[in-house]
Amino acid sequence: MIPWQEIVAYAVIAAASLSLLTFWITKKFVLKKMNRTIMKAEHSYQQQIASLQMQLSGKVNVLEGMVNKLHLSNQELTRLNEIRSKFMSIVVHDLRQPLSSIQGFASILMMDNPQGDGNNDQLALNNILKATENMGKLIADLMDISMVESGRFTVDGQPFSFNTLVNDVFALQAVNAQKKGISLQKRDYPTDITVVADRFRISQVLNNLVGNALKFAPQGGRVEISFFVDNGRIICRVEDNGPGILHTEKEKIFQKFHQSDNDRNLKKLGWGLGLAIAQEIVLAHGGEIGVESAGLGQGAMFWFTLPQHPAVPVKRPVTAQA
Ligand SMILES: Nc1ncnc2c1ncn2[C@@H]1O[C@H](COP(=O)(O)OP(=O)(O)OP(=O)(O)O)[C@@H](O)[C@H]1O
Ligand SMILES: [Mg+2]
Repeated sequence: MIPWQEIVAYAVIAAASLSLLTFWITKKFVLKKMNRTIMKAEHSYQQQIASLQMQLSGKVNVLEGMVNKLHLSNQELTRLNEIRSKFMSIVVHDLRQPLSSIQGFASILMMDNPQGDGNNDQLALNNILKATENMGKLIADLMDISMVESGRFTVDGQPFSFNTLVNDVFALQAVNAQKKGISLQKRDYPTDITVVADRFRISQVLNNLVGNALKFAPQGGRVEISFFVDNGRIICRVEDNGPGILHTEKEKIFQKFHQSDNDRNLKKLGWGLGLAIAQEIVLAHGGEIGVESAGLGQGAMFWFTLPQHPAVPVKRPVTAQA
């Protein structure tokens, strides 16, 4: 054998033995150590996961407890709300009878002595009649609110002429406008518009909007009613040159009992229910209601829409708005 070939053979054997030894040492010590480290890390992660799971389940229990409490408070609130609603409807109902008696007797006394007899009786009777009238309006509004809250408030759709309804409201409110020296105008629509809706309730909406405009417009001011048809919807507007509405108040004024601070004395003339009821009525008809105003001192334009021929027959209970 040639010596260099022997050397190569030995070298190959030595290299092979060395790599086998390295492999064996790596496997025996390094890999074992790595395995141990991995297992330790795994164990520590498992412990951490278990502890986090425990914390989480603790938090879930706390949350469940809170949800239960919330549910109970909610039930209690619903119960109290029902009692309040029932109480209100009983009180309001029972107030109507004595009020109409007071109104009746005051009117009889007034008729018995129409000229007055030189003392203050006539003035007192006038005040009584005015106060009972205001109270009657409040009772009627509270009845509506109570019916809305209990789901008993219904609207009944029948076809009628919208032009005639506007004329009737105009005639009724013209007297109030005259008292305040306000120019009440109406822009007539050239053709007769027939709509299927609850006439009494829609006239309630328009009377409230015009009543508000006359209340808030200044002495000698201007109020205009207009209406037209657009794409199967009636759009009715009531514009005034009164104090207007702040941008931030535009939605709030449709909430029950909400009144803006635009005039403390005018505020006392109402309870902040008219627009809330108007909104319920319009929504029940599938329409919309809103207000536009450039800001304080800039006047206001209240509007509402009604589908002229509603797809769903308008005869359904109105549900309370949040
Ligand atoms: N035309 C208007 N111009 C300025 N502010 C208005 C006008 N109409 C309504 N508002 C504001 O919206 C509030 C709510 O109106 P809403 O008709 O609901 O109640 P009210 O007129 O005060 O009382 P009620 O209608 O119950 O007699 C009013 O108090 C007023 O602050
Ligand atoms: Mg009002």
